[in-house]
Amino acid sequence: MTDTKIIDGKAFAERLRADIARRVELLKSQKGITPGLAVVLVGNDPASEVYVRNKGKQTREAGMNSYEFKLPETTSQAELLAKVESLNLNPDVHGILVQLPLPKHIDGEAIINAINPAKDVDGFHVINAGKLATGQESFVPCTPLGCLMLLKDTLGDLSGLHAVVIGRSNIVGKPVAQLLLRENCTVTIAHSKTKDLPGVVRQADIVVAAVGKPEMVKGSWLKKGAVVIDVGINRVNGKLVGDVDFESCQGIASASTPVPGGVGPMTIACLLENTLKAATGLS
Ligand code: GUN
Repeated sequence: MTDTKIIDGKAFAERLRADIARRVELLKSQKGITPGLAVVLVGNDPASEVYVRNKGKQTREAGMNSYEFKLPETTSQAELLAKVESLNLNPDVHGILVQLPLPKHIDGEAIINAINPAKDVDGFHVINAGKLATGQESFVPCTPLGCLMLLKDTLGDLSGLHAVVIGRSNIVGKPVAQLLLRENCTVTIAHSKTKDLPGVVRQADIVVAAVGKPEMVKGSWLKKGAVVIDVGINRVNGKLVGDVDFESCQGIASASTPVPGGVGPMTIACLLENTLKAATGLS
């Protein structure tokens, strides 16, 4: 039996946010610039309201300005586009985040692609997705960036390792795969149509689970010593669980992230990192 290290994303994110706050202070004192993040929420989705509140709080705690816009569920596409356009033109706003999911009558893709790519701190704009895929400097989506930071902190050099990413969303699966490829991993993207998923996962040195199915990935699927990153946040009978059956991985994985307290706290920390980057300009 190997001991399975618990990857403490909460502590890592706290250290990262403290370092961001230090760099924000420097930017203020040396350049007179206070980074500003605008968050737009349309409608009353309770989970989104919690996320947006946390984003605002942590933005202010990092010494940045937070601009929050809560628009009614009935907001039209044209009204939301006009809001995005005004934020694009506002020099105090360095980063813009439109909280997803949007109401069904709004074309989310059109809204995301209306954001100035230089203010797209979510990294969802097609220009940023394309730059990531072609190895150009870009904004990288926050959850994937958080996964990569935890993996590098746990494993150091990722070069040559086989990573199996389960899930192919534009928000997590695809950008995580791109980042791991950039780190010279051999990358497999698995998804709902993959045949023999346990057999595919068994090849992995790194498993990233981002499927939204509670406790789907079992310890018995893993190669001994694999590192497991669980991106899932599922509420089951009032309890938060990931996409990985955490208990069954103990003694098989060499390290794994808990839910909550693993990848989750990294997302907002990386959003703040991206906002600071937007305020200083892409290097
Ligand atoms: N909804 C859930 N996660 C995210 C995220 O990272 N960004 C945005 N804009 N919406 C989300």
